[in-house]
Amino acid sequence: MKLSVNIDHIATIRQARMTNEPDPVYAAVLAEMGGADGITVHLRQDRRHIQERDVEILRRVIKSKLNMEMAVSMEMVKIALKYKPDLCTLVPESKDEVTTSGGLDVIMFADKIQEVAGNLLAAGIGVSLFIDPEIDQIKACHRLGIRIIELNTGDYAKNAGNSYARLELEKIGKAVNYTKKLNFTLLAGHGLTYQNIRPIAAITEIEELNIGHSIVANAAFLGLKQAVARMKELLVC
Ligand code: PXP
Repeated sequence: MKLSVNIDHIATIRQARMTNEPDPVYAAVLAEMGGADGITVHLRQDRRHIQERDVEILRRVIKSKLNMEMAVSMEMVKIALKYKPDLCTLVPESKDEVTTSGGLDVIMFADKIQEVAGNLLAAGIGVSLFIDPEIDQIKACHRLGIRIIELNTGDYAKNAGNSYARLELEKIGKAVNYTKKLNFTLLAGHGLTYQNIRPIAAITEIEELNIGHSIVANAAFLGLKQAVARMKELLVC
């Protein structure tokens, strides 16, 4: 299973002092040296961590795939068209949230998603939709012609270690089976840690996991290259 490393929180540390270190570009190179198959950044509308300058330089420097998470907005489309990441992951975004707090409602916002995704796809940029593991949402992605989805593992991750975790894993399992029938490329992520990753890493239909906070947190003690390498080891089942 592949690993895309989300380096937003390297930028969070930089922005805490509004300085120029630590540089997410340096982090991306180290993550690749540790075995990352891709680098993910979320260019938020409030620019709380990743800046446009980061996307610009990452695009030129990294050797693996660049995934830009973004809100469903034409402002973000303009930026994506400028830097051409390999993939844009559309996520719901609100300025009051600490982190992405759930999947996109692809049924409710179908028109807007179609407009934004259409512009990106026309420019040759891949589009993934971050959704909760729900069959109706998967069907809505399919209706829009989207063929890459990232399943939100946040509810599983929050409950790992208690009795709800099994229910959340069952939900994810059903969603995975459904996506298989419809030929989606399947990604997953949110809230995954070294402790809770195993049941998700065992789902062979998932091509890639998107993990940020836990890797960056462990990097403070281990170094980033080592933290990525340790997570990669857990993805080999
Ligand atoms: N996937 C999506 C769509 C996200 O928004 C995030 C957080 O930025 C992640 C995955 C990674 O989550 P975490 O930082 O909890 O590993």
